Amino acid sequence: MTTTNERVAVIGLGLMGSSLAKALSAADLEVTVWNRTPAKTESFKPGAVQIADTLADAVRASDIIVVCVRDYEATADLFRVESVECELAGKVIVQLSTGTPSKAREASEWATTVGATHLDGEIMAFPDAIGTDRCAILYSGDRAAFEACDSAVQAFGGVSQLIGDDPGMAAALSNAVLSIYFSFTFGLLNGAAICDAEKVPLPLFRELVQSLFPVFGDVLSRSVDMISAGDYESEHSTLETSAGALAQIAAVGRDAGLDGRLVECMRIYATEGLEAGFGSVGNAVLFKQFRNRR
Ligand SMILES: NC(=O)c1ccc[n+]([C@@H]2O[C@H](COP(=O)([O-])OP(=O)(O)OC[C@H]3O[C@@H](n4cnc5c(N)ncnc54)[C@H](OP(=O)(O)O)[C@@H]3O)[C@@H](O)[C@H]2O)c1
Repeated sequence: MTTTNERVAVIGLGLMGSSLAKALSAADLEVTVWNRTPAKTESFKPGAVQIADTLADAVRASDIIVVCVRDYEATADLFRVESVECELAGKVIVQLSTGTPSKAREASEWATTVGATHLDGEIMAFPDAIGTDRCAILYSGDRAAFEACDSAVQAFGGVSQLIGDDPGMAAALSNAVLSIYFSFTFGLLNGAAICDAEKVPLPLFRELVQSLFPVFGDVLSRSVDMISAGDYESEHSTLETSAGALAQIAAVGRDAGLDGRLVECMRIYATEGLEAGFGSVGNAVLFKQFRNRR
């Protein structure tokens, strides 16, 4: 593997790839860009980056190949052709397109067949945060490759860490966090619908939810402790109480004529937990249901 870490290619100049390339350029790294649709290179100031005519040219000009296209399939279509594979020996591929753990592991194995090293990165930020302290990127894979990419990692800013040498770990952890993000977002939309239907001012709703963030943090902390210990005894609240609350939220929604599907889904989990005899312990016991369904 190369020890030089200043020549970086960015492959894919969508919303995220463009931000990554601009952050690298702002950090004075030698940046070469390539995008399937050449028009997207026009947003770069003349001289700020080198614009490659072909993907193979971009790879040849660089030691670190940052990839940020739609997904792993698009990456494979681009890279797994003879004219590109023959340029990859000794390079580090930093895959920042979103993927799954199994795809990251498979891509890592493929990289070794062409003499390259694969580092998987999962961006937990919007494009405007790249290059600022609001950026967070989780990496997993080869430590030496991560260290060789230090200048690029620093240029992206914020909190970046290598969480393990299994290339699938970053994708696993980021999807775990995304599942909270979407549950929270969809839950808040249901809450906003209740407020709207019952004429509770939405700013009041926002203020109250914001003030409750520390409570959500406590729930996270206690749940992880319970799951880790396999002990779901709780001195705070039981699944039976939660099942009652969910039935009540469902009734509020019915009275207000709302879409009840999200609440019904949660209610099904709670009811199954009660039927399995878990009513007297904490909600975290439902982890068993999530874990066992494949
Ligand atoms: N935007 C975000 O907030 C964000 C946050 C975290 C992670 N990400 C991840 O970053 C990646 C890129 O997202 P984005 O927001 O930059 O998306 P985007 O603006 O839609 O850009 C998509 C990029 O992928 C390229 N692409 C798509 N299909 C391709 C194919 N078959 N062959 C070659 N290139 C292809 C596009 O090339 P053309 O210009 O030629 O179409 C473009 O460069 C995704 O995996 C996304 O999940 C994005």
